[in-house]
Amino acid sequence: MKILIKNIKELVQVETAPRPKVSGKEMSELNTVKNAWLSIIDGKIDDFGSMDSWDGVEDWSDLEVIDASGKMVFPCWCDSHTHLVFAGSREGEFTDRINGLSYEEIANRGGGILNSAKKLQETSEIDLFQQATARLKEITKTGTGAVEIKSGYGLSLDAELKILRVIKNLKEESDLEIKATFLGAHAVPPEYKEDRKGYIDLITKEMLPIIQEEKLANYIDVFCEKNYFSVEEMETILEAGAAHGLKPKVHVNQFTSIGGIKAAVNYEAISVDHLEIMKELDIRALKGAETMATLLPSCSFFLSIPYAPARSMIDNGLAVALASDYNPGSTPSGNMPFVISLACIKQRMTPEEAINAATINSAYAMEISNTHGSIAKGKVANVFITDPIPSYAYLPYSFGKNVVEAVILKGKLQQ
Ligand code: NIG
Ligand code: FE
Repeated sequence: MKILIKNIKELVQVETAPRPKVSGKEMSELNTVKNAWLSIIDGKIDDFGSMDSWDGVEDWSDLEVIDASGKMVFPCWCDSHTHLVFAGSREGEFTDRINGLSYEEIANRGGGILNSAKKLQETSEIDLFQQATARLKEITKTGTGAVEIKSGYGLSLDAELKILRVIKNLKEESDLEIKATFLGAHAVPPEYKEDRKGYIDLITKEMLPIIQEEKLANYIDVFCEKNYFSVEEMETILEAGAAHGLKPKVHVNQFTSIGGIKAAVNYEAISVDHLEIMKELDIRALKGAETMATLLPSCSFFLSIPYAPARSMIDNGLAVALASDYNPGSTPSGNMPFVISLACIKQRMTPEEAINAATINSAYAMEISNTHGSIAKGKVANVFITDPIPSYAYLPYSFGKNVVEAVILKGKLQQ
């Protein structure tokens, strides 16, 4: 199968010498080709260039030609942090928060993560698979082509494995590129309230060996936060994860700064995610590290909590990625264009920085930046075509609107 997209008003995020990620000042550069063409063969990006240097198709049989006059082409977003395998929804808690309860108060009443865990434990694997498939379809429509999905709403051996098996099936069935993260340490379930060590032992001694045996996860995550897991507990879990072949991608600094970033960097975390509350020493811990700082502005929007200080992080030379955090409690949305709008509007990231953060850097945060996250020869053909738009900055500017007209995943036009 071959696709030629011609007369592209602007082909965005092109690379002739692909880089694994972009940091600091480099984030403000976004390479594009105006009046461009892009060819796709067998699911891969074959070539691209300017229409001025294109002399027509020669002997391409089985070729679909798309005329993109007035439209732009982007690499699909890589959403490197989601929890999109979950059961049902939590709009009751949403209303409780409007009426004055805090996220913490709701969690202390047995709501929050524990509420979702209870629902998920009662939901069948097939039902979960169908709900998650619908969400994958939904995020594809706004241009997502790769997604990381966490467990963490199971909190028992059976339910955590159930989620990871659903993710494994999604990997097999979906055209999206999917990575799986084991987040058994999302919250301590009620039956272990007085025996935290017992739950950590369940994670490290019972869950991890099966996960390794069945190859159910790529990464390990811990919600390192006051009232959830301490830095020391996270270290114990990351140590066990490493022994079972899982690299860390962790939740840190969402509500408090307790030293999780430095510890995660020491454990060579692929990414540290959230970072709403950052102290000077947290930024220092990330300087020069290989760990990606992943920001989730739609979580800040939904919970009305501070936004991660993206501006000072980038000005300090850090690499920043953007992801949705799609989950039922803090971000019931996987809309990456909205995430990018928020990054620009609330975090003062420029459109160039935000687009880099949601493509090449978020690809890095799921270890796929050699195959995804930019338009480069030989990379996987995950691209989207926009409606006619005046410029790429129009995408974050026109917040709440979906300018994605068509999506191609692995070289296949999605319906
Ligand atoms: O990433 N912070 C931890 N976990 C999720 C939200 C959990 C929930 O409220 O269900 C997050 O925001
Ligand atoms: Fe999360």
